[in-house]
Amino acid sequence: MEDIEKWRKACSITAEAREYGKSLIVKGASMKDVSSKIEDKIASLGGKPAFPAQISCDHIAAHYCVDEDDIIFDSQLAKLDLGVHIDGCIGDTAVSVDLSGRNAELVNASREALEAAISTVRAGVTVSVIGRAIQDVITGKGFAPIRNLSGHGLAKYDVHTIPTIPNFENGDHTKLEDGQIVAIEPFATTGSGVIQEAGNATVFMLVQKRPVRDPFVRAILQHIEGYGGVPFAKRWLVKKFPKLKVNLALRQMMQLGIIRDFPPLAEREKGLVSQAEHTLLVTKEGCEVLTKKE
Ligand code: CO
Repeated sequence: MEDIEKWRKACSITAEAREYGKSLIVKGASMKDVSSKIEDKIASLGGKPAFPAQISCDHIAAHYCVDEDDIIFDSQLAKLDLGVHIDGCIGDTAVSVDLSGRNAELVNASREALEAAISTVRAGVTVSVIGRAIQDVITGKGFAPIRNLSGHGLAKYDVHTIPTIPNFENGDHTKLEDGQIVAIEPFATTGSGVIQEAGNATVFMLVQKRPVRDPFVRAILQHIEGYGGVPFAKRWLVKKFPKLKVNLALRQMMQLGIIRDFPPLAEREKGLVSQAEHTLLVTKEGCEVLTKKE
């Protein structure tokens, strides 16, 4: 595969940033600080964020990216999800940190489900078999897998592409292919296993460039194009442009269909959620876990 060395490098930076970020999530730390330190770390290692570093807590499963209101870590169950790219080659990984000390089993459930899933991976395996492995581990521990969040393929500058890799046996007989790069991300919950959108988005993505009239919207759009089409944080824009203008521009661009938003995703019954994720290269014999760190 072309560019494989870039994928390996991007994934190794992702893994290093994950371990670094995990070490920063402690009682009393500020989420804003942790998020920007992770992003600085990624830059210092020669990568760019493939999406904003996200830290979703407790019943929020994903897509929470700190904005104006900071969160101070105390006893949350935090999921750190981060992505790094080099010239569009992406690493995607996540880890859970339980600050309460009461949710070790829930954290183990998603981690062991990920290991079980990885052990089934090789070219030719169906995605439903992977989902079954995830489901068995999680339900075996008395929790539920989140059924409407899935693993996914990764392509250049594209964080979510085919195949969709379910977190349960869904009967999809799509087969993994030799040379594919995929992310597997089991979520385990004490709830029923369904997430829904909750609250305002602070993460956005360019979907279609269209002409805009206002010069400041144009300037912000031009800046957004510099992210290469991967998701970005409102927080990044506020560093470069006045907050009021950013809010106006985002609203206008949403209305024009230029950008889409990614609101936080919360478990419907407010169940606690844990997550684990690795990016892998599928091979004939099995796979290479690209975001592993010894
Ligand atoms: Co992912």
